[in-house]
Amino acid sequence: MSGSFALVFAMDRHGGIGQGGTLPWRLPGELRHFREVTTAPPGPNAVIMGRRTWDSLPPRFRPLPGRLNIVLSRGPITVSGERVLIARDLTAALAAAQGYTGRFVIGGASLIDEALSHAALESVFLTEIDRDFHCDVRLSPSSLQLLRSSVWRRERSDEQEESGIRYHFEMLRRSERPAAQ
Ligand SMILES: NC(=O)c1ccc[n+]([C@@H]2O[C@H](COP(=O)([O-])OP(=O)(O)OC[C@H]3O[C@@H](n4cnc5c(N)ncnc54)[C@H](OP(=O)(O)O)[C@@H]3O)[C@@H](O)[C@H]2O)c1
Repeated sequence: MSGSFALVFAMDRHGGIGQGGTLPWRLPGELRHFREVTTAPPGPNAVIMGRRTWDSLPPRFRPLPGRLNIVLSRGPITVSGERVLIARDLTAALAAAQGYTGRFVIGGASLIDEALSHAALESVFLTEIDRDFHCDVRLSPSSLQLLRSSVWRRERSDEQEESGIRYHFEMLRRSERPAAQ
């Protein structure tokens, strides 16, 4: 994964990812998948997130264990804990994670939008949840269109179901380079 990075996130039918500052669904299998992807060997791995996503993590899971946590913010913020860095933009975050085997952008919405058109994006670990959660945080229409387009080679998991909610995992790899950066 030298120089490149991956995106990992879950969205509902309409590209919704968040509601009221937290995840709109409770899917332990999905959280397990997220942990497995972002801690995959050989490591070490780094996760890159927006400041509101950092704020949304329950304090007992903050920083996400076993990974370098990089929090993006343009403002003066303080974060405490070992293995946590603050970066001013995505370029600085990726540079800070240079040398980490797995580099994962994990949200929120504007960061996913930015990462999707980044030339160094290698793959997307996407969870598609087959329901409308009336989210207040969503991907942009152009990101949703790009994810649904044919620029990717796709591997799709079997259908999952938890608490009556159906979802599946997809791994997307670019089959074409983006037209412009
Ligand atoms: N479904 C999923 O997989 C998933 C994943 C992640 C998050 N979420 C959910 O999404 C919501 C949070 O996402 P969000 O989109 O509202 O916020 P967010 O992207 O997590 O955080 C936004 C903040 O991050 C900083 N930031 C973002 N991009 C930056 C950049 N390029 N350079 C510098 N700073 C940057 C800014 O912080 P400052 O304001 O400090 O400057 C910005 O206000 C929550 O509900 C969370 O639970 C869901």
